[in-house]
Amino acid sequence: MRIDILTLFPEMFTGFLDGSLLGAARASGLLDIRIVNIRDFAEGVHRQVDDRPFGGGPGMLLMPGPVVDCVESVQSDATPGHLLMLTPGGRRLDQSIVEDLSRRGRIVLLCGRYEGFDERVSETLQPDEISIGDYVLSGGEVAAMVIIDAVARLVPGVLGDEESARQDSFSGGERLVEGPQYTRPREFRGLHVPDVLLSGDHARIAKWRHEQAVEKTQRRNQVNHSQRSVP
Ligand code: 6GU
Repeated sequence: MRIDILTLFPEMFTGFLDGSLLGAARASGLLDIRIVNIRDFAEGVHRQVDDRPFGGGPGMLLMPGPVVDCVESVQSDATPGHLLMLTPGGRRLDQSIVEDLSRRGRIVLLCGRYEGFDERVSETLQPDEISIGDYVLSGGEVAAMVIIDAVARLVPGVLGDEESARQDSFSGGERLVEGPQYTRPREFRGLHVPDVLLSGDHARIAKWRHEQAVEKTQRRNQVNHSQRSVP
């Protein structure tokens, strides 16, 4: 899979992309990840990429020229990618979007900074606008890393056998969170591993795990809903 990252801060990605999982996937050719500096498409001696908003207001906006030129340059080859714009106003990322992205051969991640993009970037490029949650980050770079992490682990071969074998479970079409898991020791500070997990009865274990996952998912959803109704 090919991933292009368009950013004003390429150095933010170095440690992340060279880390163990992604570093190995890149070295083996499973992932082809390239970084493009939007500032390379700026004009003038100052290489300006941002300016003050018309009508007033705080902060600076990314100018449309360098951003659109950068995207069009990256997309000008034989196999353009699915263009994602990272912005808090986008549709909220979830695992079904991640799965969709992992099946595309190439994605292009456009990272914003400052107070955001000039509206004509969206009007011109019609990107798939994505947010990673209802809070404001100082730029799209961390969101891009979240997407790359979540997508890369679904690309066949990126995870080792042990991890990739694990299947996500569902109940009535709903994705379940993982239930509780235990490793050694059997007793820790008076807390015991549930007997069923030591029983060797794999059908009973599978049934118990599913029940635990359903309960944990319901509890988690209750917490999320009550938080949402706080004014
Ligand atoms: Cl994609 N960008 C920014 N700047 N803030 C965010 C976000 C993205 N997703 C959630 N908050």
